[in-house]
Amino acid sequence: MNYYLRMKDKFQSLRQKEDVLILAVESSCDETSIAIVKNGREVLSNVISSQIEIHRRFGGVVPEVASRNHVLAISNVFEDALKEAGIKKEEIDAVAVTYGAGLMGALLVGVNFAKGLAYSLDVPLIQVSHVHGHIAANYISHSSLKPPFMCLMVSGGHTALLNVEDYNKMTMLGTTVDDAVGEAFDKVARVLGLPYPGGPEIERVAKNGTSSYKFSVSKSLSKTYNFSFSGIKTEVVNLVHNKKQKGEEIDAENIAFSFQDSVTDELCSKTLMAIKNNNVKKLVVAGGVGANSMLKSKLSQMCEKNDVQFFAPILRYCTDNAGMIASMAYYMMKDGLGLAQLDLTAKPNVELK
Ligand code: KG4
Ligand code: ZN
Repeated sequence: MNYYLRMKDKFQSLRQKEDVLILAVESSCDETSIAIVKNGREVLSNVISSQIEIHRRFGGVVPEVASRNHVLAISNVFEDALKEAGIKKEEIDAVAVTYGAGLMGALLVGVNFAKGLAYSLDVPLIQVSHVHGHIAANYISHSSLKPPFMCLMVSGGHTALLNVEDYNKMTMLGTTVDDAVGEAFDKVARVLGLPYPGGPEIERVAKNGTSSYKFSVSKSLSKTYNFSFSGIKTEVVNLVHNKKQKGEEIDAENIAFSFQDSVTDELCSKTLMAIKNNNVKKLVVAGGVGANSMLKSKLSQMCEKNDVQFFAPILRYCTDNAGMIASMAYYMMKDGLGLAQLDLTAKPNVELK
């Protein structure tokens, strides 16, 4: 039987199998990660090799450097993931991989590794969208969480409100019309002279600050679920440049606090509108900015007031990791979705839907 037909058969029979072990590969940005997850929920291993220290000296991720370091790391990460899970590679039922969105060269390393592995083990290959993976970070964090829920997606590449009706059925209510929220955090951090990645640095510095500046997000989108963060980012950048020109001191702590405060208020007010208009009972936050304590505490208070259950991924699953990709792949497989052929290639942009 030809390879693809054989995989189709194997994929179908996995849907009925009692215990399914999925190995997932994630290399969309600067984290090389391989995880083994049982039945979409039980993380047997989730090894992450971070390149943060390498990219820090450039002030951001250098795509070519990222791909080369994925190549160097991926085989060891794979061996470590098997060892930590205590399984042999022959026990793996399917290989999943992030095929996009992300950096082309970085994604290609993971996609090609996953293709080779799936072929050599003669198991199905499942293609997963990175941003869907971020939602599934909540499934490996909260064992009983199931759709339906409202999801606030806040990462370095996306900002969106998604009505998640089922594991593989979601409607986007709104998205950013310009910068993603994580991108705005990173750019503001950079102008304040803070190291990469900027989000956690803004949070750290803001701990000693107060709301002494009034930064504001554009009001033109206030009746919609869409977001805009480029205005507030430019406001901060201009303020810092003006201060520098005048030789004034840059009070990074207060600037960081005021920026974080305004941005998290905006995320909360749109989310509240989505909750009220859609009879929502559960709110889930997903993506790297979901690690932000101020955001989580504001969302959690808002949910309590409105009788909504609030979920955020545990900290290590907020940012990029392969565990979330394995979990998403499991629920795709259950619905018969995502089986890839060996001509699968990486996609820098994947529509969020
Ligand atoms: O989800 P993620 O790891 O990668 C993408 O898929 O984009 O998100 C990375 C983004 C970066 O912009 C980073 O600065 C931001 O998440 N981030 C944070 C925090 N931790 C990570 N932003 C604010 N506060 C944090 N604690
Ligand atoms: Zn991500």
